[in-house]
Amino acid sequence: MSGVTVIDHPLVQHKLTLMRKKETSTASFRRLLKEISTLLTYEVTRDLDLTVLDIETPLGPMQAPILEGKKLVFASILRAGNGLLEGMLDLVPAARVAHVGMYRDHETLQPVEYYFKAPEDLASRLVIVVDPMLATANSSVAAVTKLKERGARQIRFLCLLAAPEGIERFRAGHPDVPIFTASIDERLNEKGYILPGLGDAGDRMYGTK
Ligand code: URA
Repeated sequence: MSGVTVIDHPLVQHKLTLMRKKETSTASFRRLLKEISTLLTYEVTRDLDLTVLDIETPLGPMQAPILEGKKLVFASILRAGNGLLEGMLDLVPAARVAHVGMYRDHETLQPVEYYFKAPEDLASRLVIVVDPMLATANSSVAAVTKLKERGARQIRFLCLLAAPEGIERFRAGHPDVPIFTASIDERLNEKGYILPGLGDAGDRMYGTK
């Protein structure tokens, strides 16, 4: 699918299978989520631009590669997006963090914004928007629209699972934003859940119901 990268690394696929299992406990789910989000971050940042820095090793000078440009922004769509942040920040500790509070009205399935906080200078940074589930894409389309209104120009979307319907809708709304996911599942059910999926990601990571 154009604009969509499926991260098929064996460790990612293995951990995702364990997360999908209904017997997996909240503690294990959370640990796996942290591990998998680190691996996903590695892949989503694979092509970042490098520049060179003059340094001295104990044996002499060299020009060494270093990331170019301003610090990344990880933009979490609350609340489930937060589950991905810890692993991401382990790998990129200097990243800035934005929070976009979107919940899905269970009747209409439409997104309702209740919170927004982001660094000022979004225009000059790569923004990686995270939400574990790209289902109807209503929340993610609205969150990316908001980030663009606040200046973001270079955006990537990272999730664990995507439904074909969600990908289509997201790409229609934001064709300039590439999607990275560990799996494209079969479809959405009538309640907007991904099948076979892993259930409600927020409930599984926080032990709610
Ligand atoms: N959100 C979830 O947590 N799970 C789904 O399957 C769809 C949306």
